[in-house]
Amino acid sequence: MSEVRIRPRQVLVLIIVFIFVLLMVHRNGKRTCQGPEYLQAMYTKSLTDTLPKIYAITPTYSRPAQKAELTRLSHLFMLVPNLHWIIVEDANSTTALVRNVLLRAGLTDRFTQLNIKTPPEFKLQGKDPNWIKPRGVEQRNLALNWLRSHADVDRHAIVFFMDDDNSYALELFVEMSKIKPGRVGIWPVGLVGGLMVERPLLNEENKVIGFNAAWRPERPFPIDMAAFAISMDLFFKYPQAAFSYEVQRGYQESEILRYLTTSDQLQPLANNCRDVLVWHTRTEKTKLNAEEMLQRQGKRSDEGIEV
Ligand code: UGA
Ligand code: MN
Repeated sequence: MSEVRIRPRQVLVLIIVFIFVLLMVHRNGKRTCQGPEYLQAMYTKSLTDTLPKIYAITPTYSRPAQKAELTRLSHLFMLVPNLHWIIVEDANSTTALVRNVLLRAGLTDRFTQLNIKTPPEFKLQGKDPNWIKPRGVEQRNLALNWLRSHADVDRHAIVFFMDDDNSYALELFVEMSKIKPGRVGIWPVGLVGGLMVERPLLNEENKVIGFNAAWRPERPFPIDMAAFAISMDLFFKYPQAAFSYEVQRGYQESEILRYLTTSDQLQPLANNCRDVLVWHTRTEKTKLNAEEMLQRQGKRSDEGIEV
């Protein structure tokens, strides 16, 4: 039987290869911004450090699925300690339904409930596909006015425009806490613009040099509302920054951003725009044909029950 002899040099090479592989695995683990260790590390730090306050601005309107959507978001916010939710109802007055969702989630002093009704000429009419007219213009502008008159000018904070029907990962709020004063943070959005993911393209220095958008790529910022958040000081610096009905479909994001930043000044987040932490999901319109039949007979399934 021939004896296999391992020379000390081979052992050394093997050890070096092993250490190298170990280091690579460790580094890869560190680079991603997803997972429980990452969250724990960030939020433990937040107990000692001071994370900037995140003002999430959400327009919302009454429809059968409203409470379900808002409950989903409110339970996410129970996990985000540095969040203040400015929820703006597209209605003539604020409602108990919305207030109760906020209170049930224990967001007691971490929300502001406002209301402003979209003027009828800008409201969607029965058969219009809901993308014909811009949504949330009035509501987001009211929230910005509220911020400019109520928020502390001297404290670094973040502003994020948040649809009530998207799906948000908790890690997204950790990421946007990293936005520097004077900057706009940016990251990919899943399931939007006809693509699996819409994202900014970065060069080797991790600067934004373009976007992969397929839908209206000629827009100055061809991105979705969920793709960015803004350092609040920019809203004080540029008091005229606002949303507008006067822009083409799909230009609301470009409209607000054109006041505040340029593409090369965007701050890439979410693992240099490689992680998807938000999805532009849209809830199917609720079918209520049986309910309508019941109601024609003067009955309803939700008599005395808030759904
Ligand atoms: C996409 C973007 O994700 C929106 O942020 C952007 O406002 C919109 O396009 C646009 O270009 O206007 P999409 O998902 O199609 O939005 O819009 P919705 O989710 O239906 O509406 C955006 C927000 O406005 C939601 O939070 C919704 O609750 C609210 N909204 C919608 C109202 O307050 N009133 C309405 O009549 C309709
Ligand atoms: Mn939406």
